[in-house]
Amino acid sequence: MLVLGIETTCDETAAAVVERQADGQARILSNVVRSQIDEHARFGGVVPEIAARAHVDLLDGIVASAMKEAGVGYGQLSAVAAAAGPGLIGGVIVGLTTAKAIAMVHDTPLIAVNHLEAHALTPRLTCALAFPYCLFLASGGHTQIVAVVGVGEYVRLGTTVDDAMGEAFDKVAKMLSLPYPGGPQVERAAAGGDPTRFALPRPMLGRPDANFSLSGLKTAVRNEASRLEPLEPQDISDLCASFQAAVLESTADRLTVGLRLFEERFGTPRALVAAGGVAANHAIRSALQDVAAKAQTTLIIPPPALCTDNGAMIAWAGAERMALGLTDTLEAPPRARWLLDANAKAPAGHANSRAGY
Ligand code: KG4
Ligand code: ZN
Repeated sequence: MLVLGIETTCDETAAAVVERQADGQARILSNVVRSQIDEHARFGGVVPEIAARAHVDLLDGIVASAMKEAGVGYGQLSAVAAAAGPGLIGGVIVGLTTAKAIAMVHDTPLIAVNHLEAHALTPRLTCALAFPYCLFLASGGHTQIVAVVGVGEYVRLGTTVDDAMGEAFDKVAKMLSLPYPGGPQVERAAAGGDPTRFALPRPMLGRPDANFSLSGLKTAVRNEASRLEPLEPQDISDLCASFQAAVLESTADRLTVGLRLFEERFGTPRALVAAGGVAANHAIRSALQDVAAKAQTTLIIPPPALCTDNGAMIAWAGAERMALGLTDTLEAPPRARWLLDANAKAPAGHANSRAGY
């Protein structure tokens, strides 16, 4: 089975061709990603209108490169998959409409993939992991703990009640005048800082649910920063180190609870899987390693290029759905919001536009 996957939900324009063999083994034939970081950097964050226009300009060429690199003709495709949400609606429309046009012209089945499902299924692309497993997804738009029970069977065990984790890193970077995207900058600055200099809050610590909260912590950083103005480089490093330490402690606690909730409902997870840009953070990786070891499970973090947004994960999710006969019609709608777990309710006190709980 050969599937073309298209990803345009945020600031990466991406396309890939993935092959799924009858035994479930996968092969990535091409995976072309064009990040729009340069277009957005001077605004300190992703500007939806600029992203949508850039997707329009870039996508045709990126799809053509992915097909060429894979050495595949449109007539050979078993399906074309696009991320139909959740995400910035302008970009989603560009990717989904392109996929529909290809599906129509080449009489190929369309698969409208949930972007979060694609993140959730990525470890099966990279290491043939069996169900059920526990996913920790932490990106600029999402912070969730999800029980991945089967294709199309997801149970959200925890989510952020306010900011996404990557978003909090980006906002802290911005208030300390570090460039966008802030996550790697904060990690770098933290390496030379004192994590104990500022007594920042540990959000949600000890709570029986597995939810996250990051906006209070971010505000605490802002308060310390304005108290110290003007900031010396050491202040910035110490603030970053203290912020990261608080995120680590809170994340370890929330995931420990999440894994316990998982165990109660689904038995021992085959693995704890981390995905999303924040999983690139070395300090967070080692905290996750400890959490997994304590819960007697294995930590799997797909390679960085497959942890962050890419077309291969969309193609793979499309292939997994196609293998179960789950195709969509050309009426499939683009969706700004699209819960992975249709039964999940917004947590109490939820107040965020970007986190897309
Ligand atoms: O998954 P991703 O590439 O894109 C989406 O948001 O979908 O995640 C990007 C997010 C940004 O907020 C970025 O600041 C954060 O991941 N990030 C990091 C690190 N690298 C990227 N956060 C903390 N530490 C990092 N090293
Ligand atoms: Zn993503």
